[in-house]
Parts: sequence; C-alpha cells; structure tokens
Amino acid sequence: MTDQPSDDNQTGANALWGGRFAGGASDIMQRINASIYFDRRFYRQDIAGSRAHCSMLVAQGILSADDGHAILKGLDQVEAEIAAGSFEYDPAKEDIHMHVEARLSELIGEPAGRLHTARSRNDQVATDFRLWLRDEIDALEPALRELQSALLDRAEEHADTLMPGFTHLQAAQPVTFGHHMMAYVEMLGRDRGRFADCRRRLNESPLGAAALAGTSFPIDREATASALGFDRPAANSMDAVAARDFAMEYLAAAAILSVHLSRLAEEIVNWASAQFNFVTLGDGFSTGSSIMPQKRNPDAAELVRAKAGRVIGDLNALLVVIKGLPMTYSKDMQEDKEPVFEVADTLSLTVPAMTGMLGDLTVNREVMEAAARQGFTTATDLADWLVRQLGLPFRRAHNVTGSLVKLAEERGVDLDGLSLADMQAVEGGITEAVFDVLGVHNSVASRVSFGGTAPSRVRAAIAEARRKL
Ligand code: ARG
Repeated sequence: MTDQPSDDNQTGANALWGGRFAGGASDIMQRINASIYFDRRFYRQDIAGSRAHCSMLVAQGILSADDGHAILKGLDQVEAEIAAGSFEYDPAKEDIHMHVEARLSELIGEPAGRLHTARSRNDQVATDFRLWLRDEIDALEPALRELQSALLDRAEEHADTLMPGFTHLQAAQPVTFGHHMMAYVEMLGRDRGRFADCRRRLNESPLGAAALAGTSFPIDREATASALGFDRPAANSMDAVAARDFAMEYLAAAAILSVHLSRLAEEIVNWASAQFNFVTLGDGFSTGSSIMPQKRNPDAAELVRAKAGRVIGDLNALLVVIKGLPMTYSKDMQEDKEPVFEVADTLSLTVPAMTGMLGDLTVNREVMEAAARQGFTTATDLADWLVRQLGLPFRRAHNVTGSLVKLAEERGVDLDGLSLADMQAVEGGITEAVFDVLGVHNSVASRVSFGGTAPSRVRAAIAEARRKL
C-alpha cells in the first residue's frame, strides 16, 4: 500500500516532541515507531479535524483570527499537495498528524505551532479513525444494497424454479431457488443492520479530550463535534482516547458478513461442479486450467470463501492487541489501524465480486428440478398426508412413510412410482389421492406458511424486501 521507510538515519531530536531529547532516534526505532506508511490513508480526516479544531479555537478566543486564517489556508495547501501525490513522507516524522503539522509549519511558519493548543495526538488519532471508519461504512452500505438487489433479481426470476433443499447436504425437501436466494437477502439485511449500529455508536467525537484528561483551555467540544458531523462529544476524556470498541465492532460485523459471503461462495463452488451442475458460471468470473482444457474454475467464489479467514484473523488481531491495555493510550494502539484497513480493502473486493458472480451465472433449471425429485424429497408430504387424511399420529405416519421409502428404494423408483396396491400393503387406508402430494411442484406450492417456500410466499417476501430496500 505504501512505501517502506528509507534507510536514511535522521540525526538530531524530533522537531515536534524532541524538546527534552539530545539525540535522534536510531534507524530501527524510527522504523518500528512510524505509522506513516499506513495512517497517511486518513489524511483527509486528519485535516478535517484540524480545520474544526482551528475554527473552534478562534471562536473561543484561544487563537487569533489572523492565525486561524493562516492555518486554514495552509491546511488547504497541505491537503492539495497530498492529494496531488507531491507530498514527501519521512519516517522520522512518525505519523500523519506530525507530517501535516510539519508541512504546515514550513508553509506558514509560527502560527502552525499554535494549532496543537488544547489537543493531543491521542484525541486526534481517535477522531481521525472514527471519521475514516464512518466514511468506510457509508461506502459499504450501497455495495451491500447492490448485492441484496442482485439476489432479489435472481430470486424473482426463479421464484418457481425447484431445487432440492438440503440438511446435512442430504436432499431434504424441495424448495425454490428463489427461496434459497432470499435466505441470503435476510442475512445481508442483518449485516447492514450491524454496520448501521456500529456507525451509530461510533459517531461521538473524541476531539478535545486532549491527551487523556481534558484541557484547561475554554474549548467548545460541542462545536467541533458538530462541525465534524458527530452526534455529540464523547462524555469521558479517558474513554475518548482509549476506546477502540468502535473498530472491534466494525471488524466483528465484517467477520460475520464475510462468513455469510463465504457460505454462499461455497454453495456456488458446489453448484458449479460437474456433479451438481446447478449453475454455470459466466466467463467473467471463471478461470481456466493451464493443463486441463475442460476446466472452468470458480476462482472468484473460492477467493471470497477464503478471504473470510483473513477478516476473522484481523478481528482477532485487534481484540488481542487491545486486550489487557491499561487506561488510557498505549502505543500498542497504533497497531489498531492495519487490520481495519485490510478488512475494508477486502470487503471492497468480496462484496462486489459476489454481486458480479450472481449476475453472471446461469441457473440450470432442468438439472435443479430433476435433482429436487431425487432422494425421496416428498416423504414429509406423504407423512403429513397420512396425518391429515387418515388421522394417524405423526410418529406412526413417519414410520409408515419410512417403510414406503424403503420399498421404493428396493424397487428403484421414486415414491410416486409405487403402485397404490404397494402402498396399501403397508397402510390399508391410503387412497389414490395420495399421489397429489407426491409431486415436487405440489410439495413446494403447499408450503404456504409464513416464511415458507411456496412461490406465492417467495413473491410476497421479494416484494417486501424490495420495499425495504
Ligand atoms: N501514530 C499514533 C497512533 O497511531 C498517534 C498517536 C500517538 N500518541 C502518542 N501518545 N504517541 O496511535
């Protein structure tokens, strides 16, 4: 992502905090200490925070209007230089906060040194990180909606397409492919809810907490909070600089989302195999093999499945870094950013990749429907018929159906391939009417309970989901 530190050893004490230091940091100290390689990623948020802080200092009479003006102008230029890629980074300046201030001081001189009045890098970094993550969540939301909408499109097309529903990956009962797609729409709806909750809780401003204890300057934390779009200032200055649960929450939501994506990816891998042949992947999301010319590999699905591992690892990394840290800031907390950046980058690939794959695949309707018939998938319908029509207790009906399945298996036929005489030999009360429930279409159409797989229910669920979207 970013350049590695240069090997140039800087001599002389750090210009920003080196007042009590006689010599410079060793090269390896600079390398381990610096976060500029990754935290430069939130320069915009850092500069936005500085603008809000500067304007507030002026409004409160802590900074003169002239100094404030010079600082704001200088910050514009620093931002433009960074955006243009002409900015020079130097590991001796540690992090983005010090880079911005150092450049500001080159540009405007003495007033730059007044910007850090009544704040610390501790409240600064916590503010930047929250702002950055808030933007990231806001960018993820439409991507998740697009994925839901791709699932809804497929669900709508295939509200009547039969497929086997599985438990234990054994054919269980026929369902529709539309119903199966809608299961993921539900999961993603909850995922979106988790990110929205996280955003709501993180939207408090640490700025003005200063190093940890607040400040003796007459600052206005409400003003900086509202200038930055926060709902309110964080209530406790120690918590404000020490809390990282907002990042943990984001990573936890991302890990759950990634697990959901991974499950769907696994299904696509299965479905695309010659053995299932339920779907055919488009050229856009498959790769060939360098030795086996017949292959069409589901690489994108496999990678979405695998990347869940990375995301779960990043959540784990942050939890373990923060675990056991005493109040308030410790430098350990500098290690909080890379896992979050990596996860944001990963989601920006996996979510649209899944959306793309869903749009690109062909559903092999006949194959799915044929598979829906295999494995005596209407056995439950038969047992239910025995309960409803003959008044058998369900346990007895289950037993009778089991015997009929065994018989069909011996004869090498489906349940509806048994003769009425065969059936009556097992349970005398069975009539010709039983054949109505043995077909897979009837089975699916009969599952009209709320949340069930009947095409009428699936269509209603799609309409409701579209309305919510
Ligand atoms: N680069 C630091 C970080 O990412 C900024 C905060 C530094 N604060 C300090 N007290 N050294 O955490």
